Amino acid sequence: MSRAAADPATRDAPRGTNVVLIGFRGAGKTSVGRRLAELLNRPFIDTDEIIAREAGRTIRDIFAQSGEAAFRAAETDVIARVTAGERQVISVGGGAVLSRENRARLRACGRCIWLSASEETLRRRIAADSGSADSRPPLIALDPAREFSVLLAQREAFYGTLAEIQVNTEGLSVEDIVNAVGSVLSIPPRRE
Ligand code: S3P
Repeated sequence: MSRAAADPATRDAPRGTNVVLIGFRGAGKTSVGRRLAELLNRPFIDTDEIIAREAGRTIRDIFAQSGEAAFRAAETDVIARVTAGERQVISVGGGAVLSRENRARLRACGRCIWLSASEETLRRRIAADSGSADSRPPLIALDPAREFSVLLAQREAFYGTLAEIQVNTEGLSVEDIVNAVGSVLSIPPRRE
């Protein structure tokens, strides 16, 4: 784990009581967030799940029928609402950090933790996730291999400036990651 540099635009923002998980597609934000919320006895908020539920459509269909801009507008609206809450575990989509407005809100609402992994691991996790087809449509007009590398390089710059802490999830199980995040947050590991 390493302490990433705070985003200059928001490093002095007042700190809320939420735990925010950021990271690329396949980093494990939803799985880890759900288990972490159980450990902390806090509500788990998944912004992608809210977007799809309120739209009554999958994320793939939102992109296909209304375009990425409509998705990003919904994403910013949901982030604005959920970051007003306290003592939550919040998981946001991999592209949420592209918006400065989102970054400011996420930073101000609590502790941002970047779940990172190698490109190979991220690819493998996405391929193994049955939900990818509905929640992870193509994002740029490149072949999937090129898209992945281009987006990962672009996004990592934002994760690194926004996150307070980076947790390298390489080779870790969900439980291991939850305990690693817990240790960062000074929470005793889960006792089974
Ligand atoms: C996106 C990541 C997805 C979802 C949407 C856009 C991105 O969330 O928000 O497909 O731009 O990287 P996950 O990171 O949970 O896959």
